[in-house]
Amino acid sequence: MENNKFPDDFLWGTSTASYQIEGSPLADGATPSIWHKFSHIPGKIKNNENGDIACDYYNRYEEDIENLAKLKVKAYRFSISWPRVVPEPGKINQKGLDFYKRIVDKLLSRNIEPFITLFHWDTPLWLEEMGGFRERASVDHFLFYGETLFREFGDRVKHWISLNEPIVYAIQGYVIGDMAPGYKRNLKGMFHATHHLLLSHAKLNAILHKSVKDAQIGIAEAQIWTKPLRPNLKRDRNAADLMDNLINRLYIDPVTKGKYPEKLLAKTAKHLPKAFEEDLKEMGNTCDFIGINYYTSQSYRYSLFTPLIHAREVPTPGYKRSAMWEIYPDGLYNLLLRVKTDYGNLPCYITENGFPLKEVKGRDPLDDTERIEYLKEHIQRVLKAKNEGVDVRGYFLWSLMDNFEWEHGYDMRFGIIRVDFTTLERTWKKSAYWYRDLIKTGVLNL
Ligand code: BGC
Repeated sequence: MENNKFPDDFLWGTSTASYQIEGSPLADGATPSIWHKFSHIPGKIKNNENGDIACDYYNRYEEDIENLAKLKVKAYRFSISWPRVVPEPGKINQKGLDFYKRIVDKLLSRNIEPFITLFHWDTPLWLEEMGGFRERASVDHFLFYGETLFREFGDRVKHWISLNEPIVYAIQGYVIGDMAPGYKRNLKGMFHATHHLLLSHAKLNAILHKSVKDAQIGIAEAQIWTKPLRPNLKRDRNAADLMDNLINRLYIDPVTKGKYPEKLLAKTAKHLPKAFEEDLKEMGNTCDFIGINYYTSQSYRYSLFTPLIHAREVPTPGYKRSAMWEIYPDGLYNLLLRVKTDYGNLPCYITENGFPLKEVKGRDPLDDTERIEYLKEHIQRVLKAKNEGVDVRGYFLWSLMDNFEWEHGYDMRFGIIRVDFTTLERTWKKSAYWYRDLIKTGVLNL
Protein backbone atom coordinates (compact mmCIF):
# COMPACT_ATOMS: atom_id res chain seq x y z
CA MET A 1 0.00 0.00 0.00
CA GLU A 2 1.23 3.48 -0.79
CA ASN A 3 2.36 5.43 2.24
CA ASN A 4 -0.09 8.30 2.64
CA LYS A 5 1.41 9.81 5.77
CA PHE A 6 3.86 12.68 5.87
CA PRO A 7 6.64 12.40 8.45
CA ASP A 8 6.12 14.31 11.69
CA ASP A 9 8.93 16.74 10.92
CA PHE A 10 7.42 17.79 7.58
CA LEU A 11 7.07 21.56 7.68
CA TRP A 12 3.50 22.62 6.98
CA GLY A 13 3.05 26.33 6.45
CA THR A 14 1.36 29.16 4.64
CA SER A 15 2.82 32.04 2.59
CA THR A 16 2.08 35.73 2.19
CA ALA A 17 3.88 38.81 0.84
CA SER A 18 4.24 42.30 2.27
CA TYR A 19 2.61 44.48 -0.39
CA GLN A 20 -0.25 42.02 -0.79
CA ILE A 21 -1.37 42.05 2.85
CA GLU A 22 0.14 44.84 4.93
CA GLY A 23 -1.52 48.10 3.90
CA SER A 24 -0.23 51.35 5.47
CA PRO A 25 2.59 51.47 2.90
CA LEU A 26 3.85 54.86 4.05
CA ALA A 27 3.45 54.44 7.81
CA ASP A 28 6.14 55.08 10.42
CA GLY A 29 8.84 56.41 8.13
CA ALA A 30 8.40 54.04 5.18
CA THR A 31 8.84 55.40 1.67
CA PRO A 32 6.94 54.18 -1.41
CA SER A 33 7.75 51.01 -3.29
CA ILE A 34 7.40 50.59 -7.04
CA TRP A 35 4.15 48.74 -6.38
CA HIS A 36 2.77 51.72 -4.50
CA LYS A 37 3.51 53.89 -7.48
CA PHE A 38 2.37 51.39 -10.10
CA SER A 39 -0.93 50.55 -8.43
CA HIS A 40 -1.85 54.24 -8.26
CA ILE A 41 -1.52 54.71 -12.02
CA PRO A 42 -5.08 54.61 -13.37
CA GLY A 43 -5.79 51.57 -15.51
CA LYS A 44 -2.95 49.38 -14.28
CA ILE A 45 -4.87 47.31 -11.74
CA LYS A 46 -8.33 45.78 -12.03
CA ASN A 47 -10.90 48.25 -10.67
CA ASN A 48 -7.99 50.65 -10.00
CA GLU A 49 -7.37 48.93 -6.67
CA ASN A 50 -4.16 49.28 -4.66
CA GLY A 51 -2.43 48.08 -1.51
CA ASP A 52 -3.15 51.15 0.64
CA ILE A 53 -5.24 49.07 3.05
CA ALA A 54 -4.99 45.52 1.69
CA CYS A 55 -5.68 43.16 4.65
CA ASP A 56 -4.57 45.84 7.11
CA TYR A 57 -2.10 43.29 8.44
CA TYR A 58 0.09 46.19 9.54
CA ASN A 59 -2.44 46.74 12.33
CA ARG A 60 -3.99 43.28 12.57
CA TYR A 61 -1.00 40.94 12.36
CA GLU A 62 -1.67 39.64 15.87
CA GLU A 63 -5.05 38.28 14.89
CA ASP A 64 -3.50 36.73 11.77
CA ILE A 65 -0.75 35.03 13.74
CA GLU A 66 -3.39 33.70 16.12
CA ASN A 67 -5.04 32.16 13.08
CA LEU A 68 -1.73 30.60 12.08
CA ALA A 69 -1.46 29.13 15.56
CA LYS A 70 -5.01 27.76 15.34
CA LEU A 71 -4.20 26.21 11.98
CA LYS A 72 -1.29 24.56 13.77
CA VAL A 73 1.16 25.47 11.01
CA LYS A 74 4.77 24.84 11.88
CA ALA A 75 6.15 27.58 9.64
CA TYR A 76 5.07 30.88 8.11
CA ARG A 77 6.64 32.42 5.02
CA PHE A 78 6.24 36.19 4.80
CA SER A 79 8.17 38.97 3.14
CA ILE A 80 9.68 42.16 4.44
CA SER A 81 8.98 45.44 2.71
CA TRP A 82 12.39 46.84 1.77
CA PRO A 83 11.37 50.52 1.75
CA ARG A 84 9.95 50.20 5.28
CA VAL A 85 13.37 49.12 6.49
CA VAL A 86 15.58 51.18 4.15
CA PRO A 87 13.55 54.27 3.24
CA GLU A 88 16.51 56.05 1.65
CA PRO A 89 19.83 54.77 0.34
CA GLY A 90 21.97 53.68 3.29
CA LYS A 91 19.45 54.71 5.96
CA ILE A 92 17.82 52.25 8.36
CA ASN A 93 14.33 52.92 9.69
CA GLN A 94 14.14 51.44 13.17
CA LYS A 95 10.34 51.67 13.26
CA GLY A 96 10.15 49.53 10.14
CA LEU A 97 12.44 46.93 11.68
CA ASP A 98 10.41 47.02 14.90
CA PHE A 99 7.26 46.04 13.02
CA TYR A 100 8.91 42.87 11.74
CA LYS A 101 10.53 42.25 15.10
CA ARG A 102 7.09 42.13 16.68
CA ILE A 103 6.01 39.62 14.05
CA VAL A 104 9.05 37.39 14.50
CA ASP A 105 8.67 37.44 18.30
CA LYS A 106 5.01 36.61 18.12
CA LEU A 107 5.58 33.75 15.68
CA LEU A 108 8.29 32.27 17.87
CA SER A 109 6.10 32.59 20.94
CA ARG A 110 3.60 30.36 19.10
CA ASN A 111 6.31 27.88 18.00
CA ILE A 112 5.95 28.91 14.38
CA GLU A 113 9.16 28.99 12.38
CA PRO A 114 9.60 32.20 10.36
CA PHE A 115 10.71 31.87 6.73
CA ILE A 116 11.59 35.41 5.66
CA THR A 117 11.50 36.49 2.03
CA LEU A 118 13.70 39.55 1.49
CA PHE A 119 12.37 40.54 -1.89
CA HIS A 120 8.81 39.90 -3.00
CA TRP A 121 8.82 42.58 -5.72
CA ASP A 122 8.26 45.77 -3.68
CA THR A 123 11.51 47.44 -4.72
CA PRO A 124 12.02 50.83 -3.05
CA LEU A 125 11.00 53.59 -5.44
CA TRP A 126 14.28 55.39 -4.67
CA LEU A 127 16.16 52.41 -6.05
CA GLU A 128 14.03 52.29 -9.18
CA GLU A 129 14.68 55.97 -9.74
CA MET A 130 18.40 55.14 -9.76
CA GLY A 131 17.82 52.55 -12.50
CA GLY A 132 16.52 49.70 -10.34
CA PHE A 133 17.79 46.20 -11.02
CA ARG A 134 18.95 47.16 -14.51
CA GLU A 135 21.95 48.73 -12.81
CA ARG A 136 24.70 46.86 -11.04
CA ALA A 137 24.57 49.30 -8.11
CA SER A 138 21.30 47.58 -7.11
CA VAL A 139 23.38 44.65 -5.85
CA ASP A 140 25.15 46.78 -3.23
CA HIS A 141 21.87 48.28 -2.08
CA PHE A 142 20.36 44.80 -1.79
CA LEU A 143 23.33 43.62 0.28
CA PHE A 144 23.02 46.56 2.65
CA TYR A 145 19.34 45.70 3.18
CA GLY A 146 20.09 41.98 3.56
CA GLU A 147 22.92 42.53 6.04
CA THR A 148 20.61 44.71 8.10
CA LEU A 149 18.04 41.93 8.32
CA PHE A 150 20.57 39.19 9.05
CA ARG A 151 22.04 41.31 11.84
CA GLU A 152 18.64 42.07 13.34
CA PHE A 153 16.99 38.64 13.03
CA GLY A 154 19.76 36.12 12.37
CA ASP A 155 19.82 34.88 15.96
CA ARG A 156 16.19 33.77 15.66
CA VAL A 157 15.44 33.32 11.97
CA LYS A 158 17.22 30.45 10.26
CA HIS A 159 15.37 30.18 6.95
CA TRP A 160 15.75 32.94 4.39
CA ILE A 161 14.45 33.38 0.87
CA SER A 162 16.35 36.02 -1.02
CA LEU A 163 14.05 36.39 -4.01
CA ASN A 164 10.51 35.57 -4.88
CA GLU A 165 10.01 34.49 -8.48
CA PRO A 166 12.68 36.53 -10.25
CA ILE A 167 11.25 35.29 -13.58
CA VAL A 168 7.89 36.95 -12.93
CA TYR A 169 9.53 40.20 -11.86
CA ALA A 170 11.76 40.20 -14.94
CA ILE A 171 9.20 39.16 -17.57
CA GLN A 172 6.13 40.98 -16.32
CA GLY A 173 8.05 44.00 -15.10
CA TYR A 174 10.27 44.51 -18.16
CA VAL A 175 8.73 42.71 -21.14
CA ILE A 176 4.97 42.44 -20.69
CA GLY A 177 4.69 45.51 -18.50
CA ASP A 178 1.59 44.49 -16.55
CA MET A 179 3.52 44.50 -13.29
CA ALA A 180 5.82 47.06 -11.67
CA PRO A 181 8.17 48.55 -12.73
CA GLY A 182 6.00 48.33 -15.88
CA TYR A 183 8.46 48.45 -18.79
CA LYS A 184 7.47 46.88 -22.09
CA ARG A 185 9.63 44.91 -24.54
CA ASN A 186 12.78 45.86 -22.62
CA LEU A 187 14.90 42.74 -23.15
CA LYS A 188 18.05 44.33 -21.88
CA GLY A 189 16.20 45.40 -18.74
CA MET A 190 14.87 41.90 -18.29
CA PHE A 191 18.25 40.17 -18.56
CA HIS A 192 20.15 42.76 -16.56
CA ALA A 193 17.55 42.60 -13.79
CA THR A 194 17.67 38.79 -13.86
CA HIS A 195 21.43 38.78 -13.57
CA HIS A 196 21.63 41.38 -10.81
CA LEU A 197 18.93 39.66 -8.79
CA LEU A 198 20.67 36.29 -9.03
CA LEU A 199 24.04 37.85 -8.26
CA SER A 200 22.54 39.54 -5.19
CA HIS A 201 21.26 36.16 -4.06
CA ALA A 202 24.70 34.60 -4.42
CA LYS A 203 26.38 37.35 -2.44
CA LEU A 204 23.68 37.24 0.22
CA ASN A 205 24.35 33.54 0.64
CA ALA A 206 28.01 34.27 1.39
CA ILE A 207 27.14 37.08 3.82
CA LEU A 208 24.54 34.99 5.63
CA HIS A 209 26.91 32.10 6.19
CA LYS A 210 29.63 34.42 7.39
CA SER A 211 27.41 36.23 9.87
CA VAL A 212 24.72 33.75 11.00
CA LYS A 213 25.17 30.23 12.33
CA ASP A 214 23.03 27.34 11.07
CA ALA A 215 21.07 29.43 8.62
CA GLN A 216 19.91 28.55 5.12
CA ILE A 217 19.01 30.64 2.13
CA GLY A 218 17.26 29.77 -1.13
CA ILE A 219 15.11 31.31 -3.85
CA ALA A 220 11.37 30.82 -4.31
CA GLU A 221 11.31 29.98 -8.00
CA ALA A 222 8.17 30.22 -10.15
CA GLN A 223 8.15 26.84 -11.83
CA ILE A 224 5.89 25.94 -14.72
CA TRP A 225 5.85 22.52 -16.30
CA THR A 226 6.08 23.14 -20.07
CA LYS A 227 4.83 20.64 -22.66
CA PRO A 228 4.76 20.49 -26.46
CA LEU A 229 1.24 20.90 -27.79
CA ARG A 230 1.86 18.14 -30.35
CA PRO A 231 4.52 15.86 -28.81
CA ASN A 232 5.09 14.11 -32.11
CA LEU A 233 6.29 17.36 -33.74
CA LYS A 234 9.92 18.22 -33.19
CA ARG A 235 9.28 21.92 -33.62
CA ASP A 236 6.73 21.90 -30.78
CA ARG A 237 9.09 19.91 -28.61
CA ASN A 238 11.78 22.49 -29.26
CA ALA A 239 9.38 25.31 -28.43
CA ALA A 240 8.45 23.71 -25.09
CA ASP A 241 12.09 23.01 -24.32
CA LEU A 242 13.11 26.60 -25.02
CA MET A 243 10.35 27.86 -22.73
CA ASP A 244 11.43 25.41 -20.03
CA ASN A 245 14.89 26.90 -20.25
CA LEU A 246 13.58 30.45 -20.22
CA ILE A 247 11.07 30.06 -17.40
CA ASN A 248 12.69 27.46 -15.17
CA ARG A 249 16.35 26.72 -15.81
CA LEU A 250 17.44 30.30 -16.45
CA TYR A 251 16.70 31.07 -12.80
CA ILE A 252 18.04 27.90 -11.17
CA ASP A 253 21.11 26.92 -13.17
CA PRO A 254 23.25 30.01 -12.45
CA VAL A 255 22.82 29.65 -8.67
CA THR A 256 23.29 25.88 -8.62
CA LYS A 257 25.49 24.94 -11.57
CA GLY A 258 27.15 28.31 -12.00
CA LYS A 259 26.06 28.70 -15.62
CA TYR A 260 23.26 30.02 -17.76
CA PRO A 261 21.52 27.33 -19.80
CA GLU A 262 23.56 26.69 -22.98
CA LYS A 263 20.45 26.59 -25.11
CA LEU A 264 19.62 30.18 -24.22
CA LEU A 265 23.04 31.73 -24.28
CA ALA A 266 23.28 31.96 -28.06
CA LYS A 267 20.17 34.13 -28.09
CA THR A 268 20.61 36.01 -24.85
CA ALA A 269 24.30 36.58 -24.12
CA LYS A 270 24.18 39.95 -25.86
CA HIS A 271 21.47 41.13 -23.47
CA LEU A 272 23.39 40.17 -20.33
CA PRO A 273 25.76 42.54 -18.51
CA LYS A 274 29.32 42.43 -19.86
CA ALA A 275 30.86 40.84 -16.77
CA PHE A 276 28.33 38.03 -16.52
CA GLU A 277 30.80 35.19 -17.02
CA GLU A 278 33.07 36.49 -14.31
CA ASP A 279 30.10 36.80 -11.94
CA LEU A 280 28.97 33.24 -12.65
CA LYS A 281 32.11 31.99 -10.91
CA GLU A 282 30.71 33.11 -7.58
CA MET A 283 27.10 32.24 -8.33
CA GLY A 284 27.19 28.43 -8.44
CA ASN A 285 26.28 26.34 -5.37
CA THR A 286 24.62 29.23 -3.59
CA CYS A 287 21.22 27.65 -2.97
CA ASP A 288 21.01 25.83 0.34
CA PHE A 289 17.56 24.79 -0.77
CA ILE A 290 15.30 25.29 -3.75
CA GLY A 291 11.87 26.84 -3.24
CA ILE A 292 9.26 25.82 -5.75
CA ASN A 293 6.20 27.96 -6.38
CA TYR A 294 3.94 25.79 -8.47
CA TYR A 295 0.52 26.55 -9.87
CA THR A 296 0.27 25.37 -13.45
CA SER A 297 1.60 23.83 -16.65
CA GLN A 298 1.68 25.34 -20.13
CA SER A 299 1.62 23.89 -23.62
CA TYR A 300 3.64 25.43 -26.43
CA ARG A 301 3.55 25.21 -30.18
CA TYR A 302 6.05 26.44 -32.70
CA SER A 303 5.16 29.88 -33.97
CA LEU A 304 7.03 31.50 -36.82
CA PHE A 305 5.59 34.90 -36.04
CA THR A 306 6.56 35.15 -32.39
CA PRO A 307 9.83 37.06 -32.46
CA LEU A 308 12.93 35.59 -30.83
CA ILE A 309 11.38 32.61 -29.05
CA HIS A 310 9.20 31.22 -31.87
CA ALA A 311 6.99 29.62 -29.27
CA ARG A 312 3.36 30.37 -28.51
CA GLU A 313 1.41 29.25 -25.47
CA VAL A 314 -1.86 27.48 -26.23
CA PRO A 315 -4.39 25.95 -23.84
CA THR A 316 -3.89 22.19 -23.50
CA PRO A 317 -6.98 20.51 -24.92
CA GLY A 318 -8.97 18.62 -22.29
CA TYR A 319 -7.27 20.13 -19.24
CA LYS A 320 -9.35 21.62 -16.46
CA ARG A 321 -8.64 25.26 -15.61
CA SER A 322 -8.88 27.41 -12.51
CA ALA A 323 -9.91 31.06 -12.77
CA MET A 324 -6.32 31.79 -13.87
CA TRP A 325 -4.46 28.77 -15.17
CA GLU A 326 -4.66 25.17 -16.33
CA ILE A 327 -4.48 22.47 -13.68
CA TYR A 328 -1.79 19.80 -13.92
CA PRO A 329 -0.70 18.25 -10.60
CA ASP A 330 1.75 15.89 -12.30
CA GLY A 331 3.78 18.94 -13.32
CA LEU A 332 4.63 19.47 -9.66
CA TYR A 333 5.71 15.86 -9.33
CA ASN A 334 7.86 16.11 -12.48
CA LEU A 335 9.55 19.30 -11.26
CA LEU A 336 10.25 17.77 -7.86
CA LEU A 337 11.82 14.71 -9.46
CA ARG A 338 13.97 17.03 -11.51
CA VAL A 339 15.47 18.51 -8.34
CA LYS A 340 16.69 14.99 -7.64
CA THR A 341 17.87 14.08 -11.13
CA ASP A 342 19.24 17.44 -12.35
CA TYR A 343 20.08 19.42 -9.22
CA GLY A 344 21.82 16.93 -6.95
CA ASN A 345 18.74 16.33 -4.79
CA LEU A 346 19.10 19.65 -3.02
CA PRO A 347 16.69 20.08 -0.13
CA CYS A 348 13.52 21.72 -1.39
CA TYR A 349 10.31 23.27 -0.14
CA ILE A 350 7.10 23.98 -1.94
CA THR A 351 7.16 27.68 -1.13
CA GLU A 352 3.81 28.36 -2.83
CA ASN A 353 0.90 26.37 -4.18
CA GLY A 354 -2.71 27.46 -4.15
CA PHE A 355 -5.94 28.01 -5.99
CA PRO A 356 -7.69 31.21 -7.13
CA LEU A 357 -11.43 31.64 -6.78
CA LYS A 358 -13.61 34.64 -7.45
CA GLU A 359 -16.65 35.28 -5.34
CA VAL A 360 -19.88 34.76 -7.23
CA LYS A 361 -23.27 36.10 -6.15
CA GLY A 362 -25.47 33.34 -4.80
CA ARG A 363 -22.54 31.09 -3.85
CA ASP A 364 -21.30 30.62 -0.32
CA PRO A 365 -17.91 32.38 -0.23
CA LEU A 366 -16.73 30.04 2.51
CA ASP A 367 -17.36 26.89 0.50
CA ASP A 368 -14.17 26.42 -1.48
CA THR A 369 -14.42 22.70 -2.15
CA GLU A 370 -12.71 23.18 -5.53
CA ARG A 371 -9.68 24.59 -3.73
CA ILE A 372 -9.54 21.57 -1.42
CA GLU A 373 -9.63 19.25 -4.44
CA TYR A 374 -6.77 21.14 -6.08
CA LEU A 375 -4.69 21.12 -2.91
CA LYS A 376 -5.24 17.41 -2.28
CA GLU A 377 -4.12 16.51 -5.79
CA HIS A 378 -0.98 18.61 -5.54
CA ILE A 379 -0.06 17.56 -2.03
CA GLN A 380 -0.46 13.95 -3.14
CA ARG A 381 2.22 14.56 -5.80
CA VAL A 382 4.50 16.06 -3.15
CA LEU A 383 4.11 12.92 -1.07
CA LYS A 384 4.72 10.70 -4.09
CA ALA A 385 7.96 12.54 -4.88
CA LYS A 386 8.98 12.39 -1.23
CA ASN A 387 8.33 8.65 -1.09
CA GLU A 388 10.59 8.33 -4.14
CA GLY A 389 13.49 9.99 -2.41
CA VAL A 390 13.12 13.67 -3.30
CA ASP A 391 14.33 15.71 -0.33
CA VAL A 392 11.19 17.84 -0.04
CA ARG A 393 10.92 19.20 3.47
CA GLY A 394 7.86 21.37 3.61
CA TYR A 395 4.79 22.80 1.93
CA PHE A 396 3.63 26.41 2.15
CA LEU A 397 0.10 26.99 1.00
CA TRP A 398 -0.57 30.21 -0.88
CA SER A 399 -2.22 31.89 0.84
CA LEU A 400 -3.10 32.35 4.47
CA MET A 401 -5.82 34.82 3.54
CA ASP A 402 -7.36 36.62 0.56
CA ASN A 403 -5.16 39.53 -0.45
CA PHE A 404 -4.13 42.02 -3.12
CA GLU A 405 -3.53 39.78 -6.12
CA TRP A 406 -1.29 42.21 -8.05
CA GLU A 407 -2.77 43.27 -11.41
CA HIS A 408 -6.00 41.38 -10.58
CA GLY A 409 -6.68 43.48 -7.48
CA TYR A 410 -8.96 41.98 -4.82
CA ASP A 411 -11.16 40.00 -7.18
CA MET A 412 -8.98 36.97 -7.38
CA ARG A 413 -8.91 35.24 -4.01
CA PHE A 414 -6.30 32.70 -2.95
CA GLY A 415 -6.92 32.64 0.81
CA ILE A 416 -7.98 29.74 2.96
CA ILE A 417 -9.21 32.49 5.26
CA ARG A 418 -11.69 34.92 3.76
CA VAL A 419 -11.13 38.63 4.13
CA ASP A 420 -14.13 40.92 3.81
CA PHE A 421 -12.43 43.89 2.21
CA THR A 422 -15.08 46.30 3.55
CA THR A 423 -15.04 45.30 7.21
CA LEU A 424 -11.63 43.53 7.11
CA GLU A 425 -13.18 40.69 9.04
CA ARG A 426 -11.42 37.32 8.70
CA THR A 427 -13.43 34.09 8.42
CA TRP A 428 -12.19 30.57 7.92
CA LYS A 429 -13.19 28.88 4.69
CA LYS A 430 -13.78 25.13 4.38
CA SER A 431 -10.20 24.73 3.14
CA ALA A 432 -8.76 26.21 6.34
CA TYR A 433 -10.47 23.54 8.44
CA TRP A 434 -9.35 20.91 5.96
CA TYR A 435 -5.74 22.12 6.06
CA ARG A 436 -5.75 22.24 9.87
CA ASP A 437 -6.88 18.58 9.97
CA LEU A 438 -4.24 17.55 7.45
CA ILE A 439 -1.55 19.22 9.54
CA LYS A 440 -2.87 17.58 12.70
CA THR A 441 -2.70 14.03 11.34
CA GLY A 442 -0.17 14.33 8.50
CA VAL A 443 -2.37 11.85 6.67
CA LEU A 444 -3.57 12.73 3.20
CA ASN A 445 -6.99 11.27 2.55
CA LEU A 446 -7.96 11.58 -1.09
C1 BGC B 1 3.40 35.12 -6.36
C2 BGC B 1 2.33 35.60 -5.42
C3 BGC B 1 0.99 35.55 -6.13
C4 BGC B 1 0.69 34.12 -6.47
C5 BGC B 1 -0.66 33.88 -7.16
C6 BGC B 1 2.99 33.98 -7.23
O1 BGC B 1 3.31 34.31 -8.54
O2 BGC B 1 4.59 34.89 -5.68
O3 BGC B 1 2.66 36.87 -4.99
O4 BGC B 1 -0.04 36.13 -5.39
O5 BGC B 1 1.69 33.62 -7.32
O6 BGC B 1 -0.72 34.53 -8.37
